Amino acid sequence: MVVNLQDVSLIKEGNTILKNINWNVIKGEHCALLGLNGAGKTALLHMLCAFYFPSKGSVTVLGRQFGKAVLGEELRREIGLVSSQIKGRMYQDDSAYQIVLSGAFGSIGLYETPTDEIRNKAKALLKDLGCFSYANRSFRTLSQGEQQRVMIARSLMAEPKLLILDEPANGLDFLAREQLLETIEQVAKMEQSPTIIYVTHHVDEILPCFNQTLLLKSGQVFASGQTDSLISSITLSDFFQMPVEVSRKNGRFSLIKA
Ligand SMILES: Nc1ncnc2c1ncn2[C@@H]1O[C@H](COP(=O)(O)OP(=O)(O)O)[C@@H](O)[C@H]1O
Ligand SMILES: [Mg+2]
Repeated sequence: MVVNLQDVSLIKEGNTILKNINWNVIKGEHCALLGLNGAGKTALLHMLCAFYFPSKGSVTVLGRQFGKAVLGEELRREIGLVSSQIKGRMYQDDSAYQIVLSGAFGSIGLYETPTDEIRNKAKALLKDLGCFSYANRSFRTLSQGEQQRVMIARSLMAEPKLLILDEPANGLDFLAREQLLETIEQVAKMEQSPTIIYVTHHVDEILPCFNQTLLLKSGQVFASGQTDSLISSITLSDFFQMPVEVSRKNGRFSLIKA
């Protein structure tokens, strides 16, 4: 079990942000987390990373039950988190290569001398994720899509058991988004692939590798289960409170207003 949430609620400043969440993610699965803006997706991810503690219920991530002397830092060493907040903290003058290297130390910026092994690993990841041609360019000169792929390569340096991607395709044009999604499919197929949780508000970003889906609405689980049976016109019409039609081609979903 990678994630086990039982009846979890999160209350902040008197507001219930997450309510009675039950959710399991098992090793070997990859999960899409779908919800509209403000549904509580990022709050839920922050809970998995032990930035937030549950106001109620029980949270176990990678075998660590929260509350029983959970060491957030220790847990976070085993989780790769890719989000716009973290991307924004990178030093813009660092090269893509330096940024990937820093992932081995979990630091913003590079303060330690990387071993040859770490250097080779960074180069291999830059190659695998299609970033090699711009490895020596400074981060600020990269396109949004290139930056996202560098951030994913960085997160993989520490060999996380869980990889959390918080709306990584936001702001990307069609081509960059498809390239990024292809990269994520590729990561899911890696031999030592971490369990991936992919957060989005777009149904068409749910990739074939995400065999599980959780629909989050107003801080509550609207539905969860096998993607194949969960994503349907009926369920999504109910979820969006608007009649929609879902179709699927080559394993990818598309959504239109009915
Ligand atoms: N630390 C916090 N304190 C108070 N309210 C918060 C906090 N974090 C999130 N919220 C609120 O919880 C709701 C869900 O936020 P968020 O998890 O960021 O949604 P999403 O990522 O699905 O767009 C929002 O209404 C937001 O304002
Ligand atoms: Mg969010």
